[in-house]
Amino acid sequence: MSENTILLKMQNITKRFPGVLANDHVDIECQKGQVLGLLGENGAGKTTLMNILYGLFQPDQGQIFVDGKEVVIKSPSEAINCGIGMVHQHFKLVDTLTVIENVILGIPTNKAVLDFGPAKEKLKKLCEEYELYVDPDAVVWRLPVGQQQWVEILKALYRDCKVLVLDEPTAVLTPSESDQLCRAIRRITAQGRSVVFISHKLREVIEITDKVTVIRDGKVIGTVDTKEATQAKLAEMMVGRPVTIERKARLKQPKQTPVLVMKGVNAFDDRGVQALKDFTLTVHAGEIVGVAGVDGNGQRELAECITGLRKTSSGSITIKDTPVTGVISDPSFVGFIPEDRQKTGLVLDFTVAENLLIKDYTKEPYVKKGILQYPAIKKHATELIKKYNVKAPSGDVKVKTLSGGNQQKVVIARELDAQPVLDVASHPTRGLDLGAVASVHDILLRERERGAAVLFISAELQEVMALSDRIIVLYSGQIMGDLDGETASQSTIGQLMLGQRMEAKHE
Ligand SMILES: Nc1ncnc2c1ncn2[C@@H]1O[C@H](COP(=O)(O)OP(=O)(O)OP(=O)(O)O)[C@@H](O)[C@H]1O
Ligand SMILES: [Mg+2]
Repeated sequence: MSENTILLKMQNITKRFPGVLANDHVDIECQKGQVLGLLGENGAGKTTLMNILYGLFQPDQGQIFVDGKEVVIKSPSEAINCGIGMVHQHFKLVDTLTVIENVILGIPTNKAVLDFGPAKEKLKKLCEEYELYVDPDAVVWRLPVGQQQWVEILKALYRDCKVLVLDEPTAVLTPSESDQLCRAIRRITAQGRSVVFISHKLREVIEITDKVTVIRDGKVIGTVDTKEATQAKLAEMMVGRPVTIERKARLKQPKQTPVLVMKGVNAFDDRGVQALKDFTLTVHAGEIVGVAGVDGNGQRELAECITGLRKTSSGSITIKDTPVTGVISDPSFVGFIPEDRQKTGLVLDFTVAENLLIKDYTKEPYVKKGILQYPAIKKHATELIKKYNVKAPSGDVKVKTLSGGNQQKVVIARELDAQPVLDVASHPTRGLDLGAVASVHDILLRERERGAAVLFISAELQEVMALSDRIIVLYSGQIMGDLDGETASQSTIGQLMLGQRMEAKHE
């Protein structure tokens, strides 16, 4: 659709939080049928701008126009009435309700007893139209995260939005789900709707958007036509200097002592399906073992078994010759960056300083005679905020007020600063901007040099290849191949990820 009408315009938007200017005179606009990419480092102000559009925050200044008319949006329900739909960076579904209940939640009705029949019909049509299939009667928490994402999108489409905001929708998707989403976005815009697409994955931004607005420190740096953009150019606009994710030269560590030793481990997932099958792996001190694979092939259960959060049904796991028998809480033993930072990594209502301390709260100098020592706690937080480059006005703010990427940095800082013998990093760069990804890679390489054993789980092939000394490929709970990180090729790993076992020969 090539109608030249501007469907969404946000003009001169300014929003200040205590100590932070999150949006500084921001202008964006999006035409009918267009996909606008919003790009920027963690904490640049992307989510804030979209939360203003969705009525969750009031701007200090600025105007919003939808379809040429100025609108004042005071709440999400007003946003929905204006035709705005939003899928949040962290999902807002009610886990214990079914898909259809979530979809119609909040839609006013004058009936005393809900009749799901017509709603289900309408949902089914939408599923078919956009090829995003979900079972209306499934309970949300049991759905894989990709399908939860479809529910969020279908929910917005059900309300017939004109503008759909997707805040980092692909951070949690597998590559094939991301492709599916791209196809759905094309169908959505073909009908004259507009999409605002936020992502840190430049390849996707280039593939799916028509134009891109780059934000840095709350200000618009520029808007470019995607046709004229390259990944390198966007990265540079975003960070202010060139950045790439490449394999760095490293000292070959002589094979050192085994740290993590897993033998014949079997384990089940939450649904009772076998998630790890006869899993045998050794990770040595001073070694980064990358776990490649499409998400959902046992990665989560692997990390949970190692850290004692999940029981194995058979086999043995030892860390430095100590068998894992329960949850490991000694921060100098195992550092664990869990895949879901909001549910298991952080206590959102605690401050940054408190979150940085969670594992050490019984120790001096933070506690003396049973009393928390706030000056010491604050000092510790200030140091870590600086060292790990967390964008936060101070350690006293609640962790939930940080941007997604900066929340992740808090987890990393807490988990790795005690210098554990084993680091288990599960998707540690998910949702991080390119500059931050590079700095997490540097941190993990430093951990390796320090002599930590590092298990690095990621669905991003490029970074597994950039970082690992050895790469194991996980498929359906089994190791399909164990490759040398220096020589492994993308095509071999790709084949193994799809479940094709390696030939007997070596690479
Ligand atoms: N409710 C809030 N209270 C205080 N500060 C906030 C609040 N929400 C956001 N901020 C701050 O505003 C700034 C912009 O955050 P925002 O979440 O918009 O960033 P973002 O661009 O979405 O980053 P990311 O890529 O990490 O998701 C950050 O410094 C953040 O700490
Ligand atoms: Mg955000």
